[in-house]
Amino acid sequence: MGIPMMSPLASLFLALMVALCSGAVEKQTYVVYMGDAPISFTANMHHDILASVTGSHEIAKESMVYSYSRSFNAFAAKLSPEEAKTLAGTEGVVSVFPNTRRKLHTTDSWDFVGLPLKMRRSIKFERDVIIGMFDTGITPTSRSFRDDRLGPPPAKWTGKCEKAKAFSGCNNKLIGAKYYRLDGSKPSKPEILSPIDVAGHGTHTASTAAGKPVRRASLYGLANGTARGAVPGARLAAYKVCWADAGCPDVDILAAFDDAISDGVDVISMSVGGPPLAYFSDSLAIGAFHAMKKGVLTVMSAGNDGPSPGTTENVAPWIFTVGATTTGRHFKTKVSLGNGKVITGVSVNTFAPSKQYYPLISGLQAANQSYDPWLHPIACDSGSLDANKVKGKVIFCMPEYGDVDSTVKDLGAAGFIGQYDYGLDTGFSFVLPSVQLDAIRSQLIQRYINSTSSPRAIIHKTFATNATVAHVASFSSRGPNPISRTILKPDIVAPGVDILAAYTRLSSMTGVDDDDRFVNYNIMSGTSMACPHVSGSVAYVKSFHSDWSPAAIKSALMTTAKEMIPRSHDRAEFSYGAGMLNPSKALNPGLIYDMDEMSYIQFLCKEGINASQLRILTSGEFSNCSAVPPGLGYDGINYPAMQVYVKTSGEPIDAAFHRTVTNVGSVKSVYRARVKAPTGLNVTVSPQTLSFTALNQSLSFEVKVIGEPLGTKPVISASLVWDDVRHKVRSPIVVYQFTATG
Ligand SMILES: *[C@@H]1O[C@H](CO)[C@@H](O)[C@H](O)[C@H]1NC(C)=O
Ligand SMILES: *[C@@H]1O[C@H](CO)[C@@H](O)[C@H](O)[C@H]1NC(C)=O
Ligand SMILES: *[C@@H]1O[C@H](CO)[C@@H](O)[C@H](O)[C@H]1NC(C)=O
Ligand SMILES: *[C@@H]1O[C@H](CO)[C@@H](O)[C@H](O)[C@H]1NC(C)=O
Ligand SMILES: *[C@@H]1O[C@H](CO)[C@@H](O)[C@H](O)[C@H]1NC(C)=O
Ligand SMILES: *[C@@H]1O[C@H](CO)[C@@H](O)[C@H](O)[C@H]1NC(C)=O
Ligand SMILES: *[C@@H]1O[C@H](CO)[C@@H](O)[C@H](O)[C@H]1NC(C)=O
Ligand SMILES: *[C@@H]1O[C@H](CO)[C@@H](O)[C@H](O)[C@H]1NC(C)=O
Repeated sequence: MGIPMMSPLASLFLALMVALCSGAVEKQTYVVYMGDAPISFTANMHHDILASVTGSHEIAKESMVYSYSRSFNAFAAKLSPEEAKTLAGTEGVVSVFPNTRRKLHTTDSWDFVGLPLKMRRSIKFERDVIIGMFDTGITPTSRSFRDDRLGPPPAKWTGKCEKAKAFSGCNNKLIGAKYYRLDGSKPSKPEILSPIDVAGHGTHTASTAAGKPVRRASLYGLANGTARGAVPGARLAAYKVCWADAGCPDVDILAAFDDAISDGVDVISMSVGGPPLAYFSDSLAIGAFHAMKKGVLTVMSAGNDGPSPGTTENVAPWIFTVGATTTGRHFKTKVSLGNGKVITGVSVNTFAPSKQYYPLISGLQAANQSYDPWLHPIACDSGSLDANKVKGKVIFCMPEYGDVDSTVKDLGAAGFIGQYDYGLDTGFSFVLPSVQLDAIRSQLIQRYINSTSSPRAIIHKTFATNATVAHVASFSSRGPNPISRTILKPDIVAPGVDILAAYTRLSSMTGVDDDDRFVNYNIMSGTSMACPHVSGSVAYVKSFHSDWSPAAIKSALMTTAKEMIPRSHDRAEFSYGAGMLNPSKALNPGLIYDMDEMSYIQFLCKEGINASQLRILTSGEFSNCSAVPPGLGYDGINYPAMQVYVKTSGEPIDAAFHRTVTNVGSVKSVYRARVKAPTGLNVTVSPQTLSFTALNQSLSFEVKVIGEPLGTKPVISASLVWDDVRHKVRSPIVVYQFTATG
């Protein structure tokens, strides 16, 4: 699995993105998942099951990697494919799946989402909220994690703070820290066997979720302001499951879930992902399912594989899936040319130039006389350039790979101008003065180079501009949901582009070795950065409504999200789900779409889960789906969004959703249904009015979605708003054709 931080240009993270080779290994680590936590667990239970397939207790002992028994029942073991297959058919086993590695996918982003520094807070209860961060570890000495005026951890906390190398320990802000590296391998430098964060990613996400306010935080003056989290009073517990040298192994992620749920965390924040899998072969979906059962909501990033459709990860309905947007601030970088022209691009360039102008050259002109024919000098491929021609100059390249800035810096370049065809809504950091330009602006550079015998240029330090509207970032992974066709994903979007937050000094600001800029606050981009905005907001809502279920909190945040503009986003809701995070509104949503474990089981039965899997999930309470009360309506779930799919462009649209809302607004209130739908799509709600006479009262309704065939449209958007004047409870309604959307 991986970390959805977006830094295609920082080579440290390339290691994390590398897929596991599935070479000719004899035995591989598998997770054997067995459902709920056993009532009385003994280590023999797992050992005996394992011995039954390995044939001997000796081999079983050698093969066992880990037993999970605190929050669910599973074990990890080294198995041959045959042994894995035999175990999958063994009594009591829900699923057996190979251990994969996931990837890691200011701050006035909080002002931007309407949570100003002087926001309404529930100080007393905020201190009882604990956010579990599953990430690359944490920097305990960061000013964002000071514990002044925070009392001791809440009594419910039973987690640990591991004493380890390079880790100074916890305090009343950072109340827990553990690392997981179950394969026992020795970490390679700079990684350390410790909860310490050497990558910076975990420190960044934790401070975004719950950092204390730190004034005058900036990256060399960029984004200067107060850096803070949504809930400065909440506690943090760091579970290090991602390693700079090894990605985020499933077995480690599961071990963190096993602990965190029983340690007493309230929210789990995971900026980590990997290819979506069937729910019960997916360690993230399994962990989050058990968390949900214990009242803990898991928030995860959608991934950085956009804008292609069908790329969203972490798609189970009990997961809160987050896409990334730009904020009200854009970073721009200017290049001045010797002819007086000024061209504006993007980047996060902290370098201030020391000269008036530098000579300018294109990669093509700087070609090495004897480069290999498959290398491209215009792309500034490593090995294709002549150091003598590059030294001391600003070089123009059309990069095909991510580390061109390091290549040209090594050759002595003074600056780097890169042409990029995508991703120009996000400014990245480079190891030397750099700017990203689109094709049109790059043409101007090339034409200027051709027009004179001594082209000159200078790249200025980045500056901030104000933007009026937020857009979903091009890298943010898009729906439709590749696993469940009736569940809209991502659920919501939040700021994830060029976010300033705390960082580590154990790694340079770009993560590259020969970069000598070490900073306490750094600007990073990715759905990784969007995810903790939502986890922090979940903690914020929880600090006002400690009794709300995970589904209720998620519903509150989804139905109050700010509506985004469909026509400025390709495929509308598949970019942004319910819309832009708006945490202060979520404190008082009026109505919630609530769900419990049974609601999800009804949904899974509708999706075709089989008898043996069901029996184990429900700890034997139900032996097959015909014994489960059927989930009502088209999708069998009380989701705060509605999604219809058709198989072909000629198929008429016809679906009837059943929903129940619970009154958390005013004792007596009357809500009217307001529907927005394009011509050709009829959305009818019955009844059209819901009259509540008590708090916590639930009322049900039906939504019929009937329409003409989609034709060439890949997706159409509609919505339902329940409106009592004081509250607007909005659900997106999406119809799509899955063959056309991947
Ligand atoms: C940040 O802004 C404050 C005033 O708001 C100023 O005093 C400080 O020098 C600025 N810091 C940097 C690094 O620009
Ligand atoms: C040109 O490329 C060759 C082969 O990669 C390399 O050995 C040589 O140092 C390069 N020349 C210059 C001047 O960079
Ligand atoms: C610049 O000159 C190069 C080489 O002569 C040529 O390939 C390229 O098309 C020219 N570019 C522009 C924008 O004039
Ligand atoms: C951007 O907005 C902020 C706050 O509204 C304001 O203080 C600042 O002057 C604006 N900057 C520019 C370049 O317009
Ligand atoms: C249940 O489904 C799993 C995975 O699809 C399959 O391996 C197993 O054989 C099925 N069990 C039954 C009883 O159908
Ligand atoms: C499922 O349960 C129903 C009622 O409990 C029972 O009649 C039926 O035989 C069961 N089916 C299977 C495949 O176990
Ligand atoms: C709300 O209703 C549910 C069931 O309808 C009940 O379990 C719960 O205790 C009620 N909560 C309050 C605060 O009354
Ligand atoms: C939608 O409703 C209108 C008015 O009731 C009706 O004329 C039309 O045929 C309906 N369209 C579809 C596709 O059902």
